[in-house]
Amino acid sequence: MQQVRNVKAMQRWALGMKKNGTTVALVPTMGYLHPGHTSLIQRARRKVGNEGKVVVSIYVNPTQFGPNEDFGAYPRDLKRDLDICRKEGVDVVFLPDDASMYPGKDSGHFSTYVEESQLSQSMEGGTRPTHFKGVTTIVTKLFMLTLPEFAVFGAKDYQQSAIIRRMTKDLNLPVRIIVAPTVREPDGLAMSSRNAYLTPEQRAQATILIDILKAAKRKVQASSSQTGLKTVTLKKQLEQAIQRCPLARLDYIAFFDPDTLDPLSTVRQGSHMALAVYFGTTRLIDNIRL
Ligand code: PAJ
Repeated sequence: MQQVRNVKAMQRWALGMKKNGTTVALVPTMGYLHPGHTSLIQRARRKVGNEGKVVVSIYVNPTQFGPNEDFGAYPRDLKRDLDICRKEGVDVVFLPDDASMYPGKDSGHFSTYVEESQLSQSMEGGTRPTHFKGVTTIVTKLFMLTLPEFAVFGAKDYQQSAIIRRMTKDLNLPVRIIVAPTVREPDGLAMSSRNAYLTPEQRAQATILIDILKAAKRKVQASSSQTGLKTVTLKKQLEQAIQRCPLARLDYIAFFDPDTLDPLSTVRQGSHMALAVYFGTTRLIDNIRL
């Protein structure tokens, strides 16, 4: 397994692969890898086969964190991540640093960003207004540096995957976006590097996210497919259920069209639901197709 830290070396490698007709799949991550990430790596391998190359990028991207967010505290364990990648048969791990990804940023000489302006406004974008601008910028840069035919993202971050799809289409980026299902702990909690922040008490109550999503799904499936359910009524019921969980503080619950992310006043089977919940300062997100 090759480790590449230099951006020019990464791009040279990628151009070489293009030239000799080798298919590349990219799995962008911020590291602290867990089985959610490895499921994406395995999906990438299935896409390119043994002839193709799987690249995993590990980079905690500063521009997608707000000023009071957890950039400094974000969990890191490179040695463990490299072991996992080796075990998964990854071909190249790309490990750039801030100085090479954002040259001149500290002296005010980095000034080009990629911004999606519709899907990025709601939900995560409402609470984290600069987050998606950082994500779309870094993902574009990673695409330009690794020139993948496929890039694999997780459904755990549903809004992120929708925005990357839109960006790829709007900008004619020659990359096929693949979205893989959410991998969960045995009790249903979606795996996340941020779960490491939870105290044992918070961890025990964190199943509220999947409980609420499943409760909503049951209610929607029991409703008439013609009339559906009024969003305001459903939301009120779910909010009350979260209030009964002492350590949880709701950030948002949203019901939306799975493609456009437009908010819905009536919820039906096939509608999408997402939520964000704070446990102390830790913020967890999850989503489900209803
Ligand atoms: P990170 O949170 O490390 O996630 C990397 C990828 O793993 C994302 O596509 C995410 O959706 C996916 N993922 C995380 N948890 C998952 C789970 N439980 N099941 C399935 N997939 C899961 O998302 C980012 O990093 C960054 O925003 C990034 C795209 C790398 C840009 O910096």
